[in-house]
Amino acid sequence: MAHSLPEYAGRHPGWPARLGPLAVPGGRVELRPVKLSDGAAWSEIRIRDQQHLVQWEPSTPGGWARRNSPGEWPGRWWLLRSAGRRGAALPFAITLDGRLVGQVMIGNVVREPLLSAYVGYWCDARVTNKGVTTAAVALAVDHCFGPVGLHRLEATVRPENGPSLRVLTKLGFREEGLFRRYLDVDGAWRDHLCFAQTVEELPPGGLAARLVAEGRASRA
Ligand SMILES: CC(C)(COP(=O)(O)OP(=O)(O)OC[C@H]1O[C@@H](n2cnc3c(N)ncnc32)[C@H](O)[C@@H]1OP(=O)(O)O)[C@@H](O)C(=O)NCCC(=O)NCCS
Repeated sequence: MAHSLPEYAGRHPGWPARLGPLAVPGGRVELRPVKLSDGAAWSEIRIRDQQHLVQWEPSTPGGWARRNSPGEWPGRWWLLRSAGRRGAALPFAITLDGRLVGQVMIGNVVREPLLSAYVGYWCDARVTNKGVTTAAVALAVDHCFGPVGLHRLEATVRPENGPSLRVLTKLGFREEGLFRRYLDVDGAWRDHLCFAQTVEELPPGGLAARLVAEGRASRA
């Protein structure tokens, strides 16, 4: 059925934003823009969690320790903040009971006529399997399909990444196909499954509301 596209001429809706809270077994999940002062916590988690993260994240020229050192953060944060201000990204920090535990990145935002973006995420190994990332991504997806006005969100994941596949399927992302040698991860070009969701597939009230209805989360 034909429809008219919303008009957002000259502005980037939905950013900056604070989303949540949602309560899950791990605690109280919220999203907020990444901050310059996140550097120490960001680096501490990522250095400790190298084994947890390295097999799923893009390869890092310069080595893991250097690219995740506290001194790397100001430059990264500045790039993320600039992308947020331009409307090219929504770089969220995930907080659990107020403490930084990960990131949800909405990147490659393309406006009319595609109105699409990708979603990426990671979280601290000490709080995995407690519903944190599923809640965080649900909040981000609802926001992208609501105030941001996007139509399609895409996520790519290695077929071996069981926890990430589970996050996507819990949230209703559909598998669309296999991208061969898509991304350089952990030193080699790796195949990735492509998952997507469009606004038409959003359940009534959104993903966060469905998590609450399923008993996976509650409004904190
Ligand atoms: C993927 C990741 C973000 C998930 O975060 P999380 O906060 O633990 O996610 P949730 O707790 O919301 O959900 C994890 C689900 O995976 C399930 N799971 C855990 N290990 C699994 C495995 N080996 N195979 C299949 N499912 C698994 C959990 O049981 C849970 O599902 P459930 O709620 O039905 O029990 C986290 O593991 C991570 O940071 N991984 C490293 C970085 C990464 O992979 N990023 C994504 C790249 S595409």
